[in-house]
Amino acid sequence: MIVCVCHNVSDRTIRAAIDAGATSLSEIRAQFNVGACCGKCLPSAKALVSEHQQATATRFTALRRELVAA
Ligand code: FES
Repeated sequence: MIVCVCHNVSDRTIRAAIDAGATSLSEIRAQFNVGACCGKCLPSAKALVSEHQQATATRFTALRRELVAA
């Protein structure tokens, strides 16, 4: 799905950037110019960053529990 139409940035691109180490919407904006034109994508981009960070944290916690239990 395209999140930022003005700069043709997809949700996959944003998720990949987070997986590669981006930790905030500011970093996503700096990398891809998300929100730099009309700004209509910012709420969606912000929600995507939060959602993906939360999912990553949940996976990390589950993995940590598995490692501690082993
Ligand atoms: S849709 Fe992202 S700046 Fe316009």
